[in-house]
Order: sequence, then structure tokens, then C-alpha cells
Amino acid sequence: MTDKFFIQTYGCQMNVYETNVVRRILADAGFAEVAREQDADVLLMMTCSVRSHAEQRALGRIGSYRTLRSDRPGRVIGVLGCMAQRHKETLIHDHGVDIVVGPDEYLRLPELIREGPNGSTGVVAAELSDQCYEQIMPRPDHEVTAFVTVMRGCDNYCTYCIVPYVKGRERSKPFSRVLAEVENLLKSGIRDITLLGQNVLAYHDDGRGFPDLLRAVSGICRDIRVRFLTSHPRDLDERTLRVMAELPNVCPSLHLPVQSGSDRILKLMNRGYTRSDYLRKVELCRRFLPGLVLSTDVLVAFPSETESDFSDTLSLVQSVRFDFAYMFRYSQRPGTKAAEIHPKVSEADSGRRLARLIEVQNRITRECNAALVGGEQELLIEGPSPRDSGFLGRTRSGKVVIVNGPARIGDLVVGRVTHLNGWTPVAELVRGPAAVPV
Ligand code: SAH
Ligand code: SF4
Ligand code: F3S
Repeated sequence: MTDKFFIQTYGCQMNVYETNVVRRILADAGFAEVAREQDADVLLMMTCSVRSHAEQRALGRIGSYRTLRSDRPGRVIGVLGCMAQRHKETLIHDHGVDIVVGPDEYLRLPELIREGPNGSTGVVAAELSDQCYEQIMPRPDHEVTAFVTVMRGCDNYCTYCIVPYVKGRERSKPFSRVLAEVENLLKSGIRDITLLGQNVLAYHDDGRGFPDLLRAVSGICRDIRVRFLTSHPRDLDERTLRVMAELPNVCPSLHLPVQSGSDRILKLMNRGYTRSDYLRKVELCRRFLPGLVLSTDVLVAFPSETESDFSDTLSLVQSVRFDFAYMFRYSQRPGTKAAEIHPKVSEADSGRRLARLIEVQNRITRECNAALVGGEQELLIEGPSPRDSGFLGRTRSGKVVIVNGPARIGDLVVGRVTHLNGWTPVAELVRGPAAVPV
């Protein structure tokens, strides 16, 4: 019987969460997770289709899974998630995968694995539905931080984006179920909870919206940090900001993807806001939430983007001064509307624009972090520092800080920021571990 599985995750935070859903489903069916792929009978991969690069990386890794399978025939290779939904049987025919399981079919995984891949024909389960996995209590994979997905799918159809096609229609998890999940996390010692959705602001259940959910979650975990991702700028309103400002354990951080600073491009992207709408929302956020850490996603070289559109993006980035940004070069996704928009921006131009944007934003990120030097921060110790001897801590506003001094994972401490390492702030422990109020 195949009972040991290994799982590798690519993609967004929702995939991290969904890997934990899969872990729970498999554990309940008697499978055991192993940390090394060579020890596994079942080799799984949670995949992402958002950019071609993400898909190429996963396909490369499937190659190494195939090598492991030829070393020991009988091993099963399973591809889960967004690429499974997008590529279906192609993954079997062209990449030698045995089992292909889309985002709404994970409950069938144990049965599909046990029935086996059906010889060389493989098996595909990729029906989209209104699945929210509300019956599954996912296994947290971290000691102090956890994600809770509150809604799945997306109805926004931004013209560049594959997500609505691979994750299906937008739907919300029942209110009571979100609260039950949060309560369960509290029992396991989690100190920081991030509510997740492609657009959490679209959350709705029986007349209750996201601000109601935020208030309810905050209420059951008063000494736990609560944050959320991602907010669509079009849907951000005073109600959410007021609730954030009012509740002390809701962290002053917002991820508000802007994508472009050009009205013409924003319209072609179907984002539903203009540059000035966005700037007004930023102003509103900062008015309600002093000390707000604001982050964003920016997409360069959308089809037909001109130098002048790009300079609108640069000027927006310079005027908003985001604390940090994820910056991407447009990647054409077959089947999306933007794939039909011409002319495409050349590789050379898109590379140059991305490099320029990164240069500008990195300077701003460094300047924003430099402003922390000399001050004290309340830090939650989340893990060991990968390079230095210290720890990784997080400020309430969501910034990662390297912390030197004696501490344990899960401690809430106070650190004084002494300098930057690259653009990461480095702090000395000044107080703690103590009961610092959140
Ligand atoms: N739901 C979120 C984003 C999900 S995808 C939102 O609405 O903002 C994460 C980011 O990937 C997007 O914000 C966008 O900047 C980027 N992205 C999406 N499709 C892309 C594509 N085709 N090429 C390059 N980047 C893309
Ligand atoms: Fe994609 Fe737009 Fe939906 Fe975000 S809001 S997932 S960018 S379609
Ligand atoms: Fe990628 Fe799917 Fe997330 S396409 S960004 S893993 S929703």
C-alpha cells in the first residue's frame, strides 16, 4: 500500500493553506507525510499557473519526481492545484504525471491514490464547484503563524489573470466555520492569523461582510495578531478601515495591489479603478491608520504599455512610497483577454522597465525601513534567522526584522532597531520575552 507522501508547494499563500488542507485529508485517510522525497511512495506537488515562470519551475521539479519513480516503480506522482486545473491530461501525456487533481477535488485524493493511476493512462479529477473545504480543519504547518482562507475563487476577471479560470467562482466560507477554525488555531498556540482570499473584501455570508468577519475574528482572539490579504482597491471602503482602526489586535498593514499607474492600462486590465481613485484610497487608509505599512503588486509590460504608461507607474510608486512591493513582468496566459491585446511589449523593454521599477522601489523600501532605526518595535519571534545567528521577528505592521538576543519562537518581545542589513532591519532585544500587550 502506498502510504508515505511528500508534498512540495509553489504559488501564493492560498496554496500554502491548501497544502495544509491536503495534509489533513491524507492524514485522516491514514497517509503519513515524510520530509524527504526519496522516502515517499506518493510525490505530490501543489502548483501555480499565475505566470509562465511558476509553471516552468514546477515542470522542472516533476522531472526530478520522474527520476525518483524510475528508481522505484510503483511510486505515484500527483500534481495538484492551479496547473492541474489548467493542463489536465497534458500533464499525464506530456509530463508523465499519474494523478492530476484540481483545486476543488482534494477530498478525492485518498481514493485516487489508492485506486492507483490506472496504468499509463493516469487519472484526472478537475471539476470546479463551490467547494470551500469547510468540513476540513487544516493542519497548521507553523508554530506561531497561520493562514485561514475565508473565500475562494475570483469573479473579477482582470484581463491578464488566470486565477478565475483555475480557481472558479468566488465563494465564501460560512462565518461560523471561519470562527471555528480560528478557535482551533488558538488551541494550538498560534499567535498571528492572516485571513486569506483573492479579494477578502468580497467576503459575504448571509448578509455579513468582511468588516463583520474581521470584528468577530478579532473578538475571539484578543491577544493574537490578525491581518488579511488581499484587498482589491475597488472594494476597500471606510467601513473596513474604521473596524481596523478600532480593533487593537488588527494589524496596521494592507496589501493593496495597484498593478499600474496608467489609467489607460488600468482600464485595459479591467481593474475597476483609476489612478486617482487609488491615490484617494491610499490617502483614506493613511488617515484612518497611522503607522500603516502599505504593500502592493505591480505589473509591468502589460500588452500595449508605452513608455509614458510606464512612467505613470513609476511616478505612482514614487508618490505613494509603498513599504514594499512585489513586482512582475507581464506573462501571457492563454485564454485570458489580455492575450488578445496588441502590440506586446518586447522582452528587452519589459526587462528594462522591470529593472528600473525594482531599482526605484528598492530604494523606497530601504528608506522606509531606515526610518525604523533607533526606534523600538514590538516583535513576534517567528523563527530562526536563515543566515544570521538571531531570529526572525515581525512588527505589528508586518515587517520582518532580524532580532539578536535570547528569545524563543512565539515570544513577543521589544527590540530596538540598530541598523539595516541590505534593507532588512536588525534589532537588539531590549525587553522580553514578556507579556507585551498586542
Ligand atoms: N488577487 C490578487 C492577486 C492574485 S495574483 C489581486 O487581485 O491583486 C498575484 C499577483 O500576480 C497579481 O497581483 C499580479 O500583479 C500578478 N499577476 C497576475 N497575473 C499575472 C500575469 N499574467 N503576468 C504577470 N503577473 C501576473
Ligand atoms: Fe486575478 Fe484580478 Fe482576481 Fe486578483 S482580482 S485574482 S488579479 S482576476
Ligand atoms: Fe497561483 Fe493559483 Fe495562487 S495561479 S497565485 S496558486 S490562486
